[in-house]
Parts: sequence; structure tokens; C-alpha cells
Amino acid sequence: MKTLIKNIKELIAIDDEARLLVKGKDMAVLNTLKNAWLLIDGQIIENFGSMSDFNDEKLGNCEEYKEIDAEGKIVMPSFCDSHTHLVYAGSREIEYSDKIKGLSYEEIAKRGGGILNSAKLLAKTTEDELYEQSLSRVHEIISQGTGAVEIKSGYGLSLESEMKMLRVIKRLKETTPLIIKSTFLGAHAVPAEFKSNQDEYVDIVINEMLPQVAAEGLADYIDVFCDQGFFTVEQTDRILMAGIKHGLRPKIHANELANSGGIQVGVKYNALSVDHIEYTGEDEIQALLNSETMPTILPGAAFFLNMPYAPARDMINAGLPVAIASDYNPGSSPSGNMKLMMSFACVNYRMLPEEAIYATTINTAYAMGISDITGSISIGKLANLIITNDISTYQFLPYAYGSDLINTVILKGEVL
Ligand code: NIG
Ligand code: FE
Repeated sequence: MKTLIKNIKELIAIDDEARLLVKGKDMAVLNTLKNAWLLIDGQIIENFGSMSDFNDEKLGNCEEYKEIDAEGKIVMPSFCDSHTHLVYAGSREIEYSDKIKGLSYEEIAKRGGGILNSAKLLAKTTEDELYEQSLSRVHEIISQGTGAVEIKSGYGLSLESEMKMLRVIKRLKETTPLIIKSTFLGAHAVPAEFKSNQDEYVDIVINEMLPQVAAEGLADYIDVFCDQGFFTVEQTDRILMAGIKHGLRPKIHANELANSGGIQVGVKYNALSVDHIEYTGEDEIQALLNSETMPTILPGAAFFLNMPYAPARDMINAGLPVAIASDYNPGSSPSGNMKLMMSFACVNYRMLPEEAIYATTINTAYAMGISDITGSISIGKLANLIITNDISTYQFLPYAYGSDLINTVILKGEVL
């Protein structure tokens, strides 16, 4: 079955070269086509072009096809959200007031709140209930234009509960139209009973959890919360090395709370991405420049926790790519709205709308290892698309930060 989208006011983020990422100065240059058409064949973008050149031949002997009139509307690739924790139980608005009163993320964590709070609740939640709660978040982000998402474990912190989370992620992969990548984050926090012997917990992650996770093929990537008050660079080193032995490439939490050395250890192990990275200086930028690691900023967490903002401009000016993900989780970013993340990127990080578009599509696709199949308007890629409401320009998307401007979402060629 083919679908023709015609009279598109502007088709944006076209990439004839199908680049796997966009970096430096190129991030400010968005390739677009005004008054365009786009043809979908099954799950794939078959062709696109200008309405002035359109004729029936472009449909390739196809008699029956579905037609969508996108007059006044913009068509773009659906968002890729390369960093979330959207499988979790309940919520943590109880800590919200504590934060407003002035307690820091670390102080809340030290009191047994934070991640450990979510872990306690998750242990008591059945797998089916966890799936249902997570499924409603998946539906929410699809309606907000997300077509691919990475989801981490890390609220289990025991073999049994980590496996429960990863099985829920697998079920979401099988039952929803999203492209989903799964990351094992056993080293998200140290359970209270290991407080005085953190290395013993690291041993459990490496020797008990990891082999089981890998044996059942439940993870694509491995993550560690490498930061002050959580896991040290040495512990991260050990976990990543073990993960790689099991075929899991690292994607890590780094330098959110301090200049913890997380970026360098990520680069050392050829991490696909280093994420958060509020504390990034010249040395970190240099390390990233000589790497295949995607620097990933999580503006929702920095906003919600009132943290310093990562130096996105310095990174882009130095020639680096930058990705922007939501970090959707109950403690530091209870939102997976990627359009809102684009607005944060523009206002708080001084990224141009063009840069924010690349950062939330092709660069996040790279950061989850799928930029060969999604993240731009390119012939042969999956038809994962957003059709907006009637809007004036694509810059209007991040500008109108509180408006839901997503009219239609198409995932794998299917109009949802
Ligand atoms: O990415 N920084 C570590 N982990 C999550 C927060 C998890 C939580 O607080 O529940 C994050 O921000
Ligand atoms: Fe995170």
C-alpha cells in the first residue's frame, strides 16, 4: 500500500546523502523543499519532490493509494529520543516540593529518596502493571511526535527487578509501533544495603546481572551513572569493560553533578553517547572531537533540577555534533515531550531552531544506533514522519513552546 502526502507547505530535514549525524556548522543548515510531495511505499520513504514536478508517473504504476493533503502543514522526521527511563512505577511528585524548598538532587538521594524510592515501588509492582503504566507513556510520546526511543533499566537494582524492567521494555518493542532500543543500567544507584560496600554491588552487576541480561538478549547497550555520589570512574571502567565483553556498547550518564571524568571514560570505551554532560570543559570537548561518541544534552533534567546548562554552543562551535534527548523519568525530567526539549535547546542553550531539529532527529538517531534507517527525510529510510498543524514556518515549532502543533504521526508508514 502506498501513501502520497501532497501539497506539503515545507518538507524539512531532507538529506540526500543520508548522513549518519550532523555536526558543527552544518547543524545550522537545514535542507527543505517548499510545496512538496512525499510518497510512502509500505514502511519506506519511496520518493519526494516538488509539487511543480509531480505527475502520476511518480506513483510508479500504483492504482490504489491513500492520499493526505498537507496544505499549510510542515512535514518532518519524527523525533528520536535517545535517552529515557520511561519504564518506571508510579511517580515522585512528593520530592518536587522538597526540591522547591531547596534540597538538591544529591541530598534527596542521600536520604534514600530519588532513584531508591522508585526502586522500592518498582519491586512491589507486578510486571503487567509496570507494562500498562509504561505503555501509557509510550502512547503519550507517540502523540507528541516521537518515533524511536531508547529505554533504560535501572529502577530494579536487583537481578529480579532489573530483569522485570528489561522484559517490559522487550514487550513494548513487540507491541508498539515505536523503534525501541534497550539499555541495561544496573549501575544507576547503589542499593542501601551496599552503601558501605559499593564495590560488592558493582560485582553483582558484573557477575550476576550482566551475564543473565546478555544471555537473554534483553539489552542493546550498557549504561552507568558515572558521577559524584554515584559510581566512580574506576567502577565505570570495570562495568563498561564487562559490558563490551558481552557485546553491549556503552551509552553513559556522565558529568551531570560534577566534572567526574565520565566523558573521558565514555570516549575510552567508544561509547555511542555520553549524556547529561553539564560539566563539560575544553578537555572534554577535545576528547569528544577525537571520538565517535555523541555528546547528548538532556535539557529537561537541567531545567527541572535547576542545574547549570551544558555548553552546547562551545561544542557546536568546536565542530562537534550535539544531540538533545528528554531523559523522561520520574525524578529529574517527568516529560518525554521532544518538541518542548527543542524549545529548551533554543532558549536555554542558544541553539538555532535548525540545530535543535537535527539534535532531536538525526543526532539522537545516531545516539541509538539507528541513523541509517531513521532521523531524516531520505529515500529508503523508514517513513517515520510528523505532519504539523497549519503553521507559518518550522521555526514556529520551538517558538510556540506550549502549543501542541502535531497533527498526524506516521510510523513505519502507518498513519496513526
Ligand atoms: O538521567 N541521572 C541519573 N538518572 C536519571 C534520574 C533518575 C531519577 O532521578 O529517577 C537522570 O536524570
Ligand atoms: Fe538519565
